[in-house]
Amino acid sequence: MSLLSPQLQQKLATPLKIGSVEVNSRVLQSPLSGVTDLVFRRLVRRYAPESMMYTEMVHASGMCHARELPKIMEVDPNEKPISIQLFDCRPDFLAEAAHKAVAEGADTIDINMGCPVNKITKKGGGSSLLRQPEIAEVIVQTVAQAVAVPVTVKTRIGWNEQEINILEFAQRMEDAGAQMLTLHGRTRAQGYNGTARWEWIGRVKEILSIPVIANGDIFSVEAALKCLEETGADGVMCSRGTLGYPFLVGEIDHFLKTGQKLTPPTLVERLVCAREHLQALWEYKGNRGIRQARKHMAWYSKGFPGAGELRHQLSRVETVEQGVELINQAIARVG
Ligand SMILES: Cc1cc2nc3c(=O)[nH]c(=O)nc-3n(C[C@H](O)[C@H](O)[C@H](O)COP(=O)(O)O)c2cc1C
Repeated sequence: MSLLSPQLQQKLATPLKIGSVEVNSRVLQSPLSGVTDLVFRRLVRRYAPESMMYTEMVHASGMCHARELPKIMEVDPNEKPISIQLFDCRPDFLAEAAHKAVAEGADTIDINMGCPVNKITKKGGGSSLLRQPEIAEVIVQTVAQAVAVPVTVKTRIGWNEQEINILEFAQRMEDAGAQMLTLHGRTRAQGYNGTARWEWIGRVKEILSIPVIANGDIFSVEAALKCLEETGADGVMCSRGTLGYPFLVGEIDHFLKTGQKLTPPTLVERLVCAREHLQALWEYKGNRGIRQARKHMAWYSKGFPGAGELRHQLSRVETVEQGVELINQAIARVG
């Protein structure tokens, strides 16, 4: 375990300042579509009560046209700090959606400018905004004028290898009024493949005055430390490392605050967490929750004898009782 440099220790001892919002943690839970609903965030927050969390990305114009707020925008009344992430390419819809998000309790509004999915980029949203910096600029300006809470941007280093334009893009976002930039160190063409190129995060950090959060391949306390040292970033954001492991943000946060590594959860504790996750999804979303729980259960069922078989069985559960029974049997076997 590398020791923290004095400069890093000094930075970590102060709150993360996102415009007017102060956050007492330098580790953030990323927005993950289909994952970071209210149930998942509750689990993460149990171990990382002070960390910033994000909702799943919400389609701004879709939401403005709907009669009711989408369930993915729901936040707990006491859930803080929380950012609601929006995606779209139309500034007016984004501003209207941001208003609703603030009414729902958002402490910050994050604009998604990194999603690589075709369905979204074809309509001008997500990472395609990297190719339309003038629209991205108007989006940030319009939303920042529309709401009193800070507006932040989450993006990638560029569209592809030939179009890595993050240095210019990031500066434009700051000049337009963004109060924080989270940078996933991959191009859109990379998707989630290859390694995240933290060197670009370091370069962006050198030129911006707003906080820069490093994202990509933060799967452990060690990776978080290495990334913070190498990039000089103001914080790290965990993503795939939290799938089936809602302990990660808390583990990193604890280390950054105390210099002590927490004992990792035992296999039984992980399975108990999986069971609670399943039951909570059922209570919150009913049968749809059970269908969504299947992928979570597959992520929890990794790295122990019999995990493959359990994963297979859990991927077919139809009822909460079935799932709970399978997990109870697994706990009895490994406990
Ligand atoms: C299942 C899944 C869903 C995601 N959903 C979102 C999303 O809604 N908004 C967003 O900005 N990024 C989303 N991302 C991207 C992650 O937040 C993150 O930027 C990316 O996974 C890189 O970090 P990692 O290498 O630590 O996983 C998603 C990624 C995955 C794997």
